[in-house]
Amino acid sequence: MQIIKTKAELAALSSSWQKEGQTIGFVPTMGALHAGHLSLINALDGKASRRIVSIFVNPIQFNNTSDFQHYPRGLEDDATLLHNTGKVDVLYAPDESQMYTPGFATRISVSGLDSMLCGEDRPGHFDGVATVVTKLFLQTRANIAAFGEKDYQQLCLIKRMVQDLDLSVNILPVPTLREADGLALSSRNRRLTPEQRQQAALLPQALKACLAAIQNGTSVESSLVTCREALKKAGFHVHYLELRHAENLAPAPIAGKDTRLFVAASLGDIRLIDNMPFA
Ligand code: PAJ
Repeated sequence: MQIIKTKAELAALSSSWQKEGQTIGFVPTMGALHAGHLSLINALDGKASRRIVSIFVNPIQFNNTSDFQHYPRGLEDDATLLHNTGKVDVLYAPDESQMYTPGFATRISVSGLDSMLCGEDRPGHFDGVATVVTKLFLQTRANIAAFGEKDYQQLCLIKRMVQDLDLSVNILPVPTLREADGLALSSRNRRLTPEQRQQAALLPQALKACLAAIQNGTSVESSLVTCREALKKAGFHVHYLELRHAENLAPAPIAGKDTRLFVAASLGDIRLIDNMPFA
């Protein structure tokens, strides 16, 4: 596995791959890698002949500097983990000066999708994501890129952007990988205290219970109210808990095959998100 730090070096390699007719698979990440990230790499099996993983903690998608500063970083461990998969050709780890040159002024905005759910209390977050992902697509010349359903809103937004801007990259959605107790794997889980880690498992349990209540005939609205109360009692600050249409994330007053339950809730200053389909 090669470690590349500059966009010029990456461009040289990926254009040579393009000329050879290779299919370039890409997994963008912010590092602090876990099995969820590795499942994205595995999802490219048989779909890409070359694989690039990027690690870049993207400052423009953080709403506050403290969150950005506290974001877990460990490039050496991450590189070892990626190397040991035996599946990654390039770890692309640019520094900030590679990504944002002085005077950088452009933002990509996916209207509507960027202002609901996580966008509501994280203004500018999704513009930051869309902008960096576009840059990474262009730099890597990716043919196919894997994104986790864990960040379902991000996945929807990227799909919309790719379609709207005629970007020539296929987006591959990958199901959420969970711990044995149901908690979705996340880099942020490392910051939970042992007590918070136990509490955190209540989040997916609450989602399941809410979906089961709806399935059993309780109205969507009252199932959501009960679930919000249960989460508050368990010590969460609930940012949102909502049933939405899976395609466009519009509010779904009635549950159906194409609807999903979305939650963002914090334990202390650690924000956790999760989502599950209504099936
Ligand atoms: P990051 O949080 O590092 O996540 C990178 C990718 O891993 C995302 O597509 C995310 O959905 C996926 N992922 C995280 N946890 C997962 C899990 N438990 N199961 C399956 N997939 C999981 O998302 C970002 O970084 C950034 O916003 C990025 C797209 C890199 C832009 O900066």
